[in-house]
Amino acid sequence: MLLKCIGVSKKFGGLQALRNVSLTVDEGSITGLVGPNGSGKTTMLSCISGIHKVDSGRIIFEGEDISNLPIHQISSRGVVKTSQIVQSFPDLTVLQNVLVGIYFGREKNCSRPLDRAKEILEFVGVPPSKFDMKASECNIAELRRIQLAKALATKPKLLLLDELLTGLNPKECEKAIELIRKVRSLGVTILIVEHVMRIIMGLCEKICVLHHGEMIAEGPPEEISDDESVIRIYLGKRYLLRDLNA
Ligand SMILES: Nc1ncnc2c1ncn2[C@@H]1O[C@H](COP(=O)(O)OP(=O)(O)OP(=O)(O)O)[C@@H](O)[C@H]1O
Ligand SMILES: [Mg+2]
Repeated sequence: MLLKCIGVSKKFGGLQALRNVSLTVDEGSITGLVGPNGSGKTTMLSCISGIHKVDSGRIIFEGEDISNLPIHQISSRGVVKTSQIVQSFPDLTVLQNVLVGIYFGREKNCSRPLDRAKEILEFVGVPPSKFDMKASECNIAELRRIQLAKALATKPKLLLLDELLTGLNPKECEKAIELIRKVRSLGVTILIVEHVMRIIMGLCEKICVLHHGEMIAEGPPEEISDDESVIRIYLGKRYLLRDLNA
């Protein structure tokens, strides 16, 4: 098991965003984190990656307690999150954005950073013609890829993807799903937050469901899609996996 969160709670003022949340992520897996808007998904990823401090509970990564370590120490251990609201350095070029990931990641002493950055951009499907464009000139699909490239440049062991596919059209979504599978095949473990159930059900071995900051279900897609409380609170209907995979 790569990640184990035990009883994590987090308050913002009077609002209990997370209440006693426990979840595990197996090494090499793709695990999904779903739930209605405001249920605490982003907060959970932010607690794991060190953006937010937890009020109580523990986050164990590779057997060590990383809860409330500074964010740079967590990322240097290999835990990196992409942002739900796409973020880039708009005045830097596409290539420079990825170089930032290399310089602040686990490959700081990479001997050929430029070549490495280009290789990663090509891996995520950004063509060389775009490398010298400013990030501010890129469209949303390109920015999502660049964001993923920047995260991969840090050489993560656990990648936390927060709605990476939001804003993409169905064709771009299909490509992004393939890409996420390719990332996993590199040996990167993935915890993904996503609203589109077709994507989550097709990608993940395990799905965790949050509601009002509490974990209400955790299990394989076929179990989650059949769970009465998950259907009532979140799904609205039963998802038949054979239809989703068709
Ligand atoms: N920095 C913050 N300060 C105050 N309240 C916050 C902060 N971040 C999140 N919240 C609140 O905590 C709750 C959980 O928010 P969170 O963003 O984690 O939900 P989410 O499940 O990611 O929602 P969505 O699906 O809309 O992205 C919400 O009520 C939100 O308003
Ligand atoms: Mg969110």
